[in-house]
Amino acid sequence: MNFKSLQKNLVTMQQNITISYDVFDRLEDLSSNDQKLLKAATEAAKGAYALYSKFHVGAAVLVENGDIIVGNNQENLAYPSGLCAERVAAFSASALHPNQKLMAIAITAFSEDFVTDKPIPPCGACRQVLIEYEIRDNQPMRCILRGSTGQIFVFHNMHDLLPLQGKFLG
Ligand code: THU
Repeated sequence: MNFKSLQKNLVTMQQNITISYDVFDRLEDLSSNDQKLLKAATEAAKGAYALYSKFHVGAAVLVENGDIIVGNNQENLAYPSGLCAERVAAFSASALHPNQKLMAIAITAFSEDFVTDKPIPPCGACRQVLIEYEIRDNQPMRCILRGSTGQIFVFHNMHDLLPLQGKFLG
């Protein structure tokens, strides 16, 4: 019996994961609230401290009470000491509004060296941080992604960006 047929015998059930998200061609196609959030992220990217990567990321978190809390990447000569825009924004939002749910996050970026016409998906560590707020708040956190130009991708919750998180914990 070769490995492949052994493996086949051991599989009792195959599961599939489907992720749906919306794609928009233009900013004006978004709801006015989502436009506002993405614009706040775009403004925030301009303030990034991205001396080393020249890659400026902006994030904007919509808080339950309607406040928008922004963040941008903060770099440091000691590289690991820097932080992504998403975590700067989410940590600030949670610190400033500890009793408010985090409803949505918009993320965008531009580079000094190349065109970012595709969205910048959050890194794994940021997804982990964001999904924990989603679980804490028992509230889907929408995620709006765009490069500095191009299509806009709207995900409905953080679980879609970090599938299986917490699934086997009972
Ligand atoms: N960065 C973010 O802020 N968010 C992301 O989703 C990807 C990467 C930052 C980290 C670093 O300052 C620079 O972009 C280059 O990786």
